[in-house]
Amino acid sequence: MTIPDLTTLGRGVPGTTLGAGVPGTTLGAGVPGLPGAAPADMPRADAAPAVTTPAPAALPQPQPPGFSPEAARQDVPILHRTVNGHPLVWLDNGATTQKPRQVIEALGAFYGAANSNIHRGAHTMAREATQMYEAGRAAVAGFLGAGSPDDIVFVRGTTEAINLVAQSWGRANLGPGDDILVATLEHHSDIVPWQLIAKETRARVVPIPLTPEGAIDQDAYADLLSSRTQLVAVSHASNVLGTVPPVKEMTALAHRYGAKVLVDGAQAVAHFPVDVQDLDADFYAFSGHKLFAPTGIGALYAKPEILQGMRPWQGGGNMIDSVDFTRTTFAPVPHLLEAGTGHIAGVVGLLAALNWFTSFDRDAVAAYETALMTYAQQALATVPGLEVLGAAPERIAVLTFTLAGHDPAGVADWLDRDGIAVRAGHHCAQPALAHYGLESAARASLALYNTSEEVDLLVASLRRLQGA
Ligand code: ALA
Repeated sequence: MTIPDLTTLGRGVPGTTLGAGVPGTTLGAGVPGLPGAAPADMPRADAAPAVTTPAPAALPQPQPPGFSPEAARQDVPILHRTVNGHPLVWLDNGATTQKPRQVIEALGAFYGAANSNIHRGAHTMAREATQMYEAGRAAVAGFLGAGSPDDIVFVRGTTEAINLVAQSWGRANLGPGDDILVATLEHHSDIVPWQLIAKETRARVVPIPLTPEGAIDQDAYADLLSSRTQLVAVSHASNVLGTVPPVKEMTALAHRYGAKVLVDGAQAVAHFPVDVQDLDADFYAFSGHKLFAPTGIGALYAKPEILQGMRPWQGGGNMIDSVDFTRTTFAPVPHLLEAGTGHIAGVVGLLAALNWFTSFDRDAVAAYETALMTYAQQALATVPGLEVLGAAPERIAVLTFTLAGHDPAGVADWLDRDGIAVRAGHHCAQPALAHYGLESAARASLALYNTSEEVDLLVASLRRLQGA
């Protein structure tokens, strides 16, 4: 049996039957559970509108040069299922992305033909699995613009990456009176690990304020930086406001004070090209599942000179050189920080996802998503009582909104009846919502496979909800 070709893993696999015949599938049809009747205060999706307001004017369609969302859609089987009798409209990409068949097949191929632990050198299949795992590391390094695969640590996801940095680097480098500057728009996973380690080390977590538009207040940031600043933690894209902060400039400024910079790339990597060396980031973290790969796998990049000084944060197999009750010696990084058996199949899936995603023109994808966001902003503006949060000049296609007269959970429930998946709640970013005086909001988060027709369905459903 041959192992999957690592150089093509995830690229168009001919002759597959997985996902074939999916268009028109009834997968999910007849899933029991959702009540047939809408609550009394909500008009049914198919009810005649009570009030007639002008239909949205025809909007210019996104015209992407060099990229068509159909090219991506045809690879993603789940996008062709129905939900509650309607074609699925997946607008919850900020929570997780859907998987192309190349990723699904890579997982099947691994478990069907190549499953082994990566105990190096033990036998043929162990060597093959090790080769795949390390090919995944090299692919991540290339994807992020890292100088070497050795700069990449595999983790469960962004949350684990940040906890790793806090527990390993933070424990060794933070002390009483030190400041950790954390942008107010951060996800809880880029706030709470710093609070935990700050409490232990008696450092301080200092929020960097936002402007009314939801951008990071750069003047306030410059004022907060000092010789006490040890670390700046900032997202490359906000999961709730869509804001893309000027991370490169913020990093350069932090470095003038000798501070390190951790960039949370969870929401960025699926939307625009990233080059960690160009950013000069000290740490960069992302999750595979927000990048068309499986859950439970992600990566941490760290500059080699920082990584080499990092202490183990978990002990176990794979991270040692030799163990003795009097003296244990350790493996070099990145293995030092990967105790235990990693998510080998997850790395194989991540490799397939990277091969799939990078087969598209990344700049064209980013341009398409920007055009689609502009289209969505204009279309949503026709929904009475709808307010979109955040208007930072640079942003990804994350549209978090409130709707007059409805709580966000009710809005998500209404849209779900039309097969439209959005997230509602605090989005694990309570300080960002509190900036707008909110505890909860609804969020549509778009990806490369979303279309203007899907935006139209979202807007039409919301307009019906508002009786427009
Ligand atoms: N961080 C994910 C989101 O924004 C879960 O939905």
